[in-house]
Amino acid sequence: MNFEFFMPSRLIFGAGKVKEVGANAKDLGKKALVVTGKSSAKKAGFLDTVAESLEDQHIEWLLFDEVEPNPLTTTVERGAKIARENGVDFVIGLGGGSAMDTAKGIAFAALNEGSVNDYIAGKPGKDALPIVLITTTAGTGSEANNYAVFTNPNTKVKKSLKSPKIYARFSIIDPELMLSVPRNVTASTGIDVFFHAMEAYIGRRSQPFTDALALEAIRLVAENLKGACEHGEDIRYRERMAWANTLAGVAINLSGTCGIHGLGHTLSGFYNVAHGESLSAVSIAFMRFCIPEAPGKFAKVAEALGVDVRGLTLAEAAEKSVEALKDLMDSVKVPESISAFGITEKDIDMLAEHAFTWLTHNLEASPKIPTLEDVKKIYRESL
Ligand SMILES: [Fe+2]
Repeated sequence: MNFEFFMPSRLIFGAGKVKEVGANAKDLGKKALVVTGKSSAKKAGFLDTVAESLEDQHIEWLLFDEVEPNPLTTTVERGAKIARENGVDFVIGLGGGSAMDTAKGIAFAALNEGSVNDYIAGKPGKDALPIVLITTTAGTGSEANNYAVFTNPNTKVKKSLKSPKIYARFSIIDPELMLSVPRNVTASTGIDVFFHAMEAYIGRRSQPFTDALALEAIRLVAENLKGACEHGEDIRYRERMAWANTLAGVAINLSGTCGIHGLGHTLSGFYNVAHGESLSAVSIAFMRFCIPEAPGKFAKVAEALGVDVRGLTLAEAAEKSVEALKDLMDSVKVPESISAFGITEKDIDMLAEHAFTWLTHNLEASPKIPTLEDVKKIYRESL
């Protein structure tokens, strides 16, 4: 066994913990930029709670509430300009993955010259302002890793900024913030948790820490996602999904995602599809493509999804992972085909060429590495 474990963010988990943001942030400086989406953090009252907690500690704050779903690199650069002009000491991301990723991007771009696209392409960054993340969904795992995903509006490339500089100093995972998340968002963010765990586990960059975290996350999603969708007011489901999200977030921090995220990001880049739905829509065809290469791993996925694999051959058990995932996706009503987004046969070549050109890092981590023709085939089977 050869592996490393590096996770420098403090994770503060628990109901009501959002109220402690100010007390925990007081050593980070006197002025914060709070980054949110356009309305939900305000409407749900979370922004008021955070503001009160900061003001209690005499921390001045200003708001950047221009984050869109599938955030744009141009939004990051706008936010970074505001951070620089106002001399903020640190950045707080409050919301789902889009708000947290944008906060990471702003903190990074505020201290690194030139276009953020260059750093997404691999240029190393010098530093970033301190980052605090408060997740309101379960989730993208962004609070527990050093990725931030952005879409370049000119090229439609949706890709991660990955840098050791964008780990949060601390993250708050407060399941009470998730009680009011609508059913469809609970489903799409919850299924993203599953794919983080599964892709980290089946991927070529998996390692022993990942395996332990990922299989537990899959088990938790299988047991609690439907309940969180149907009984969103029940804190027990929210707490277990929040924990699954944290586990899976650390798993992708260690091992990354693979082909499902590569193919999904491409769909979101062009069609602005919700992230989790972009993944569910291509997942079945992708799994069928990979299963013969790693039947042992897919059999474990099936088991974690609740399948009784006793008496089955390895190949049969592996195949059951597809059925079990399909059942889970049916139960929470996420799309299982890319036709749901208006994509037709005529779009396949363009999407495949784009994914094959720009998302190589993800595709190459897959248990079976797809060729361009394979990518076309997977998209076509996902229609
Ligand atoms: Fe994801």
